[in-house]
Parts: sequence; structure tokens; C-alpha cells
Amino acid sequence: MHGKTALAIVGAAAIGRVSAGDAPETSGNPPNVIYRATIEKPGFADADLPGELMGSIFAQAPPGGRGVVFRAEFENLPLEGGPFTYHLHKAAVPEDGNCTAALSHLDPYGAGAEVKCDASKPETCEVGDLSGKHGAIKSAPFSSEYHDLYASTKEGDEAYFGDLSFVLHYANSTRLACANFKREASSTPYPTGGHPNSTVIPTYSQTRSPTAAPTGEPTEEPTEEPTGEPTTPGSAAAQMSKWSVPAMVFGAAAVAFGL
Ligand SMILES: *[C@@H]1O[C@H](CO)[C@@H](O)[C@H](O)[C@H]1NC(C)=O
Ligand SMILES: *[C@@H]1O[C@H](CO)[C@@H](O)[C@H](O)[C@H]1NC(C)=O
Ligand SMILES: *[C@@H]1O[C@H](CO)[C@@H](O)[C@H](O)[C@H]1NC(C)=O
Repeated sequence: MHGKTALAIVGAAAIGRVSAGDAPETSGNPPNVIYRATIEKPGFADADLPGELMGSIFAQAPPGGRGVVFRAEFENLPLEGGPFTYHLHKAAVPEDGNCTAALSHLDPYGAGAEVKCDASKPETCEVGDLSGKHGAIKSAPFSSEYHDLYASTKEGDEAYFGDLSFVLHYANSTRLACANFKREASSTPYPTGGHPNSTVIPTYSQTRSPTAAPTGEPTEEPTEEPTGEPTTPGSAAAQMSKWSVPAMVFGAAAVAFGL
């Protein structure tokens, strides 16, 4: 009897990922690599939105590569149906933007979505349950930055999400929007000894110059003759969000270089 039980335990352990286990802290995550996922359109047609739904999750490992620092920002969320949750999901969103195809949460250690995440024991939660571990979205605009010790930006790690997605949910878990993570140009790591905070991250984006563009990429050249002054339509300017700033700066710099 005892022998059989022991065998069963060994068997379950050998299966590994199938049995529930605490998530290990991740290490060796490359500090100079940035991942960002930006919502392009709501994935839920019936969403009642006060404006254009916007949101992004930025991710970069801190110096030393222990865990990942996330910065999540959401704007123009529905006025009803919250608090909203968001998670890393285990599949990418296909071209058609179908958020259901992102499948379930990133959960390599089998914590399961049925058990509510206890934020005081984050290692017992699904790796992908970012809002469970770090707080749901109770008001908008929402901005939150935190250090998650269990997600990974190291390719090959069980908790790697760099080629996956996140999904934003209503409280009733209907999928409101989703987006894929994309690797961005490498940056310099956070200043040594400095704590990554909300001042540091946007500063990086806004000061990025064309010379910091990924090596190997062709030099930006304006495809059109820059005739006259580049004018910005008022409506476009009004729609500019803080997420557009890096693109704006980059675009302006590219034009300047072309001239
Ligand atoms: C979830 O909540 C939203 C907003 O209240 C609603 O539009 C949607 O139909 C709900 N989904 C389900 C499955 O009840
Ligand atoms: C969305 O993806 C799910 C899961 O892959 C699939 O069952 C469903 O049919 C898709 N919906 C549409 C509209 O393509
Ligand atoms: C963020 O970083 C800036 C510049 O390094 C510093 O002045 C500020 O106090 C930091 N804020 C927090 C909340 O750590």
C-alpha cells in the first residue's frame, strides 16, 4: 500500500506541470529587452465605451534580471461591468483579433483559474494572473507599475510571455480587449542601483532617437517629398495619447533627418 502511494507521488511529480505547484521566481531575464502589448481595437463589439478604448502593458526586466517590471495603462474603459481584470494568456491573438483564441491564462505550474488568486501568496497564483496578484482595475484612467517575480522575458522559460498576449476582461470574465506582446528595440537597462519607476520608463521612450533604432533596420527615409509644413489635424492631435508619444517623437525625428 505504502509502496503504491509512493509510486503514485513519484509519478505525479514526474508529470510535473500537470500537478499544481508554486511558481518559481524567474532569473536571468534580459534587462535590456522591452516587450509591449498595445490594444488596437476592442475585441468585444457590444462594449459601451466613453471614448476610444486604449491600453498597453509594458514589460522589462530590472537590472539583475530577477522577475519583470510591468507597467499597465488603460483608458476609456466601459463605465459599467468592472472591476476589470487582465491576464497574460497562453496563446497569441490571431490576425482577426479574436480574443477567445488567446485561450486560457498563462499557467505553466497548474495553479488553475478556479481558485481565486491570493495576492499575499503570489507564487500560488497563475503566473499570468497579473490583476489577481497586483490589483484589478477599479477606475480609469488606470496606471500601475509593479515588479512581478514569476513572469519571464527569457525565451525558453516556462513563464516566458514575449510571444503571447494579454486579455482585458469584464468582472464577469467576458473578454473586452486583447493584444499581443511585441519585442521592441533594446534599450539601456534601468540605471544601476535605481529603482525602476514611472519616471524612468516614459523617459526612455520619449528620448529615443533614430540612432537608437534596432541595428540592422534600414534607415528611416520619408516616402513622400516633405512639401510644406507637416501639419497635424486638430482631431488627430486630440486623439494623441501618451502611448502615441514615442511614435510621434520618432516620426518627427525621422522627418527632421530626411530634411
Ligand atoms: C458581461 O458584462 C458586460 C458589461 O456589463 C455585458 O455587456 C456582457 O454581456 C456580460 N457578459 C455575460 C456573459 O454576461
Ligand atoms: C474565436 O476563437 C475561438 C477559439 O479558437 C473559436 O472557437 C471561435 O469560433 C472564434 N470566433 C470567430 C468569430 O472566429
Ligand atoms: C523615480 O525616479 C526619479 C528619478 O530617478 C526619482 O526622482 C523619484 O523619486 C522616483 N520615484 C519613486 C516613486 O521612486
